[in-house]
Amino acid sequence: MIYGLILAGGIGRRMGKDIPKQYLRIGGKSIISHTIGKFISSDLFEKVIVLTPHDWIDYTKEIIENDIKNNADIIVIPGGELRNDTIMNGIDYIEKHFGIDDETIVVTHDAVRPFVTERMLADNVSAMEKYSSCDTVVPATDTIVRSEDAEYIDEVPDRAKLYQGQTPQTFRATAFRRHYMSLTQEEKNILTDAVKVFVIKGEKVGLVEGDTTNIKITYPSDITVAKSILQEDK
Ligand code: CTP
Repeated sequence: MIYGLILAGGIGRRMGKDIPKQYLRIGGKSIISHTIGKFISSDLFEKVIVLTPHDWIDYTKEIIENDIKNNADIIVIPGGELRNDTIMNGIDYIEKHFGIDDETIVVTHDAVRPFVTERMLADNVSAMEKYSSCDTVVPATDTIVRSEDAEYIDEVPDRAKLYQGQTPQTFRATAFRRHYMSLTQEEKNILTDAVKVFVIKGEKVGLVEGDTTNIKITYPSDITVAKSILQEDK
């Protein structure tokens, strides 16, 4: 069974608006509606579970009702304090209501990446035939420098080997839970990225090709970029 988990449990502090950024509107719809729509139209998922801040559940249900026609397989539940806690809430919900086994796959995705494509979702799912988990990435375009003290450069890694991580990130639900539960609270606070949990546990994480348009809306300037990508998609 394959489930989509749309991660919308954050409050968008860096965006600095009075509502969480996933509810800002672009092209006549909330950002989160664009994202959910991509999952629904792919037909890959048994259920699409949307995880939001507690106070935003009813509002989210309302906009889904208005924006998405084919909405019978969408479930809205509360996210968690950290991003990975949000994923854990999704996995616990699946277990409680549908049951999980070692073949239960979760395709996790940032609600604020509305330009995910059906191709990326399908590639994530088929990567699970080969890998225990996978990450959607694009080759790094900027040269990345590493600095321990934020004053001097310690290293300029070879750009040809560097990628920027996007989402979806896909894995088996039981494996994520086993690894995540073995971390200390301190490790959990640092490890906000889901596939990093697999990497530090020594598992091989496969790469899936992302796209530069699959942006994460983080700052106000990203809204301008998102609107222009929408315009080009038309
Ligand atoms: N997210 C989540 N649960 C959390 C924290 C984040 O589901 N406890 C989600 C966000 O809603 C977002 C995605 O993870 O869709 C990527 O996180 P980020 O861009 O950092 O979102 P925010 O945490 O909302 O932003 P900020 O860090 O600026 O507050």
